[in-house]
Amino acid sequence: MRTVILTGAGISAESGVKTFRDSGGLWEGHDVRDVATPEAFERDPLLVQRFYDARRSQVRSVQPNDAHLALARLEAELGDDLLLVTQNVDDLHERAGSQRVLHMHGELLRARCLTCGERPGWADDLAHAPPCPACGEPRLRPDIVWFGEVPYHLEEIQEALFACELFAAIGTSGEVYPAAGFVAVAAAAGARTVELNLKASNVTDLFDEVHTGPATATVPRWADALLAGRG
Ligand code: OAD
Repeated sequence: MRTVILTGAGISAESGVKTFRDSGGLWEGHDVRDVATPEAFERDPLLVQRFYDARRSQVRSVQPNDAHLALARLEAELGDDLLLVTQNVDDLHERAGSQRVLHMHGELLRARCLTCGERPGWADDLAHAPPCPACGEPRLRPDIVWFGEVPYHLEEIQEALFACELFAAIGTSGEVYPAAGFVAVAAAAGARTVELNLKASNVTDLFDEVHTGPATATVPRWADALLAGRG
């Protein structure tokens, strides 16, 4: 069955990565407008670089959880029939073993050069303005899609949504578009739609099926049932 799975911050919550909207509108102590917009970067690049340096180093200290692992198992069975689209910038899906992962909001472990456009893998800090490995200019920024910027891979995602028979959204609040609109696109294309979340999201009413609870409990159960159903 051609399946698209969209994940959000909720799938990494039990690994110890904070979600964006479950802590009073602040993200690790910052208003998102101060750290996640191109304007914020222009105004105070050092603050933004330090913020993402801290996130990058935090992500190295956490591990994939049972929900990430269940999705990797699902991919091992479904192969090319499964596309995993994540809004998360951590690498926990990859470390769990998923290979077909599209990071629509970018990746913490990647930088982007403002001079030459190269997007090198990047595990270290950026605040001290290291040179770009491709052009040598010290103008690397985090390869994160900030508010007001266009997400990555939209064409490929849309094609997969048009063709899918099953769409699942896991641990995402349905607050940020275009991801929040994927359920409607998949439903219009005739897919069955499933939401797995700790609580109702903004778009819960649009789903055919809803599983409420922590991702480490709901996702392995749902993935196992899906595989069992294939007989
Ligand atoms: P949010 O922080 O908006 O929402 C997190 C969702 O996860 C909520 O719906 C929670 O109910 C759910 N949740 C929390 N803990 C959970 C758990 N243990 N199990 C299952 N669900 C749980 O995060 P996103 O929807 O991912 O964009 O946010 C979307 C985008 O907004 C992010 O990618 C980021 C942000 O600003 C950019 O950085 C561009």
